[in-house]
Amino acid sequence: MLIFKTIPEIRDFVKREKSGGKTVGFVPTMGYLHQGHLSLVEKAREECGTVVVSIFVNPLQFGPREDFSQYPRDFARDSAMLGDCGVDALFHPTGEEMYNGHHNTFVEVAGVTDCLCGKSRPGHFRGVATVVTKLFNIVQPDRAYFGQKDAQQVLVIRKMARDLDMPLAVVTVPTAREPDGLAMSSRNVYLTPDQREKAPVLYKSLRAAAEAVSAGERDVNKLVGMVKQVINNTEGAVMDYVEIRSLPDLDEKEWLDLPSLMALAVRFGKTRLIDNIVLGE
Ligand code: PAJ
Repeated sequence: MLIFKTIPEIRDFVKREKSGGKTVGFVPTMGYLHQGHLSLVEKAREECGTVVVSIFVNPLQFGPREDFSQYPRDFARDSAMLGDCGVDALFHPTGEEMYNGHHNTFVEVAGVTDCLCGKSRPGHFRGVATVVTKLFNIVQPDRAYFGQKDAQQVLVIRKMARDLDMPLAVVTVPTAREPDGLAMSSRNVYLTPDQREKAPVLYKSLRAAAEAVSAGERDVNKLVGMVKQVINNTEGAVMDYVEIRSLPDLDEKEWLDLPSLMALAVRFGKTRLIDNIVLGE
């Protein structure tokens, strides 16, 4: 696997691969990789002749009181994992390479960023949309892979790619979970053993709501209330939000349309976990 730190190097590599007729698949990440990230890489491997992964902890998408400086990093382990998965090139730029001190242009996706994580993390999706635009312009992939784990993120990227006529396909990959249902996340390492034991409650509460929908429940307030009750009865869990929203526009509904997205964020101490389920899928 080739490792590139600069924009001209990765550009040259992709240019060569494309001129050899290869389809380029791209998986952007912030590193500290787990099986969730690798499932995106595997999908890209299946569908593309060349696979490029990026590792860049993007300062622009973290709020001032968020975990940018503590975000877990282990480049040696990550690059070994990616090499084993048959990745062709890894792009690992510095902050300086990406933002060179006087970056002044930002990408805002309106509407779908007003709710859920967009509401509880102001500026987050502006940071994501900006860095993903830059990465798309740098790598120029044919296909880019994102996880359903960050459901709102994929909707934002899809909308951005469509609105700005970005010449690539956005592919969504299902959420990879631990055996007890907890969605895999780089942030799970922050959990204490006690919090880790309780954390599967996010997915359990979503599954209970999905079962109620299967049994015929369509009242959005009731479904949201069910999940709130389960989370509020879990010691140490603090509800950030739980909402049901239409797909793909994330509109608010009182009466459930199928399919719809049910998404939540829950804090355990300082650690904020997110998860979601598509109701009626
Ligand atoms: P990061 O959190 O590292 O995630 C990289 C990609 O892996 C995202 O598309 C995310 O949805 C996906 N992913 C994470 N956990 C997953 C899981 N359990 N199952 C399936 N996919 C999972 O998301 C980001 O980085 C950043 O916002 C980024 C897009 C790289 C822009 O900085």
